[in-house]
Amino acid sequence: MKPIFLIGYMGCGKSTMGRALSAFINKELIDLDHFIEARYHRSVKEIFAEYGEDEFRKIERNMLHEVAEFEDVIIACGGGTPCYFDNIEYMNEKGTTVFLNASLEALMRRLSTAKAKSKRPIIADKNNDELAQFITEALEKRMPYYSKAKLNFDSSYLEDGVQIHDSVESLSKMLKEE
Ligand code: S3P
Repeated sequence: MKPIFLIGYMGCGKSTMGRALSAFINKELIDLDHFIEARYHRSVKEIFAEYGEDEFRKIERNMLHEVAEFEDVIIACGGGTPCYFDNIEYMNEKGTTVFLNASLEALMRRLSTAKAKSKRPIIADKNNDELAQFITEALEKRMPYYSKAKLNFDSSYLEDGVQIHDSVESLSKMLKEE
């Protein structure tokens, strides 16, 4: 099986859906941020602080090219991964891309917690009003990339085990029909 790439904005459910899909279809999950962190012995936050975002994007592209060569894997990308270089075209060539498309309301619910912010340098210092504005603007800029994914899946409903299970079941049906 060619890789399945889960893409979408921060908080859209790439990790949650990635873990659940991995268990459901019995394929390994690779989280691109974690892969980068293991290779560089630094958190994404530290890489941003030490090297800056431009360098992070280069590292991210290089690591994407490594993991895209693996077979039988699900790759949970970072929120920005498809939006730099030719990454989205590259992923479309290498495997099946899935855009996890969550509503602004769902994104706000998931990203406005202190825990969610502390891991994500891009939103760490934003209050809730600024965050809503920031997400709206970022989605406008990123949608042209996200919408190039082969599959578009509504990931707004991942609030409990039942919703996650139902979502994963429908996504795996979509993937089978692909
Ligand atoms: C980013 C999203 C993050 C991480 C980095 C940049 C972005 O990944 O790659 O902080 O530009 O949207 P998650 O979407 O997994 O939070």
